[in-house]
Amino acid sequence: MTQNHIVFFDTTLRDGEQSPGCSMTTQEKLTMAHALEDLGVDVLEAGFAVASEGDFAAISTIAQAIRKPKIASLARAKQEDIELAGRSVEHADRPRIHVFLASSDLHLEYKLKISRQEALDRTAESIRLARSFVEDVEFSPEDATRSDRNFLVEMVRVAIEAGATTINMPDTVGYTTPDEYARMFREVRERIPAVDAENIILSAHCHDDLGLAVANSLAAIQAGARQVECAINGIGERAGNAALEELAAALYVRKDYYGVDTSIKLEKLYPTSEVLGQIITFKPSPNKAIVGTNAFAHESGIHQHGMLANPLCYEIMTPASVGVAKTNLVLGKHSGRAALRDRLEKLGFTLDRDELQQTYYRFVALADRKKNIYDQDLIKILPDAIRERRGEPVV
Ligand code: KIV
Ligand code: ZN
Repeated sequence: MTQNHIVFFDTTLRDGEQSPGCSMTTQEKLTMAHALEDLGVDVLEAGFAVASEGDFAAISTIAQAIRKPKIASLARAKQEDIELAGRSVEHADRPRIHVFLASSDLHLEYKLKISRQEALDRTAESIRLARSFVEDVEFSPEDATRSDRNFLVEMVRVAIEAGATTINMPDTVGYTTPDEYARMFREVRERIPAVDAENIILSAHCHDDLGLAVANSLAAIQAGARQVECAINGIGERAGNAALEELAAALYVRKDYYGVDTSIKLEKLYPTSEVLGQIITFKPSPNKAIVGTNAFAHESGIHQHGMLANPLCYEIMTPASVGVAKTNLVLGKHSGRAALRDRLEKLGFTLDRDELQQTYYRFVALADRKKNIYDQDLIKILPDAIRERRGEPVV
């Protein structure tokens, strides 16, 4: 794997599943895991083994059925969790145990009620235990972005010495900003030479509470992160995780800027989002980047005119490149004559200038009253002479 390959760690089935309305059965998780494998994710976090028997069963089923990605199983820094996580991925070709323990004083004091020293000791012990099951151990200092920086660096150092091969620094509560997050990655690399010297992978895991999850992940990449953790349609705790499709598309469209490669098959993005939408109880909002129904829809006259002249005027990637069937020129009250003529021509009606003008006035009047204009509505407002030419009934 080259230095400029960004590892896509998908957590749709773990962090994603933790969001309301997103729980999945083992069978549904397996269906989703196949879709994620086809999409080309490098690591698939299949669940949190200790959470329930169902979660354990789902991880174990996925570990046996899915071959291409590494299969990760989440564990708190506790013996019981790590042993279960280890067993859940024992049949995977390339298993990973992902251990997490909070690094912020807030979490240590109020949630875990342990001292910083106890946290460091547990970090080392749990990673050593995880390494007795698998070679590939990821460690996450939870709430890294709200942690005292010196302590965070200390914890990461201890984790690496104990055998962690990937260090994920989560923005657990979606609090950080791109510049600040990037600085954290640079500082950890500067202060712990072993990160680069021993080829330790630094990873970003961003939540979207301020709508910055994708921007923060991209900033981390610029600061040396080589793994991003993300979920399809951006599902996940609260406002969700960084959306996989947005990260993959950004790195593809702006390869000139980021200069990195991924294994994601772009044309599978939309189909994968559809699979998830069918499994869970909701689809992404219409204006969601890449996979929302309006992501490639254009309604205003100026935009439609530009699109018809050259799609590059208003589209930075083709819909086909991310698996969307086609651009949708939606006819509504902001549309212009160019789009109307184009649609009518597709329906088989060629109008001269005056006929188009007459039809356009009728169309605008109708669009003021009606939200959705269908092809049948358009045919009805055509002047009689045009419909007669085509043998359409004249009412
Ligand atoms: O957001 C978070 O901190 C997590 C960890 C378990 C990685 O999901
Ligand atoms: Zn998370």
